[in-house]
Amino acid sequence: MKIGIANDHSAVEMKNQIKAYLESLGYEVVNYGCDTTESVDYPIYGEKVANAVASGEVDRGVAICGTGVGIGLACNKVRGIRACTCSEPYSAEYSRRHNNANIITFGARVIGIETAKQIVKVFMETEFEGGRHQRRVDELMDIEKRNCEK
Ligand code: RB5
Repeated sequence: MKIGIANDHSAVEMKNQIKAYLESLGYEVVNYGCDTTESVDYPIYGEKVANAVASGEVDRGVAICGTGVGIGLACNKVRGIRACTCSEPYSAEYSRRHNNANIITFGARVIGIETAKQIVKVFMETEFEGGRHQRRVDELMDIEKRNCEK
């Protein structure tokens, strides 16, 4: 599986550690984030990784900012993206099982590196359950179709 990762200035160190961790698990990881601690704007990097996921350039994404919220909002503005902000592994697991999330986001100022590792591991290893959850995900994507311009 190929994974895209993005971050703003608040999460350079965490991005590097998570990238190395995912590589140690055997994943190919593409960096769409910033590599400087000078202040940058998280929407730029959220859009980059979201476009990579939406186009199929990568299979899933990880996006990290201070809280995970801003970069997650940016990701969710891209058609086809279901980005979930999670601060613990249970929600990360169910974001895959029930919501078919394709990007996981979290905050470098909110959680520690060990929790972040647990979150990305379970997110990458868990499959979507389909069934009744497929109908609900379809309903989510219908909202996008009804409300977003082409
Ligand atoms: C940057 O200071 C901070 O606002 C950003 O990393 C993120 O937390 C936004 O949601």
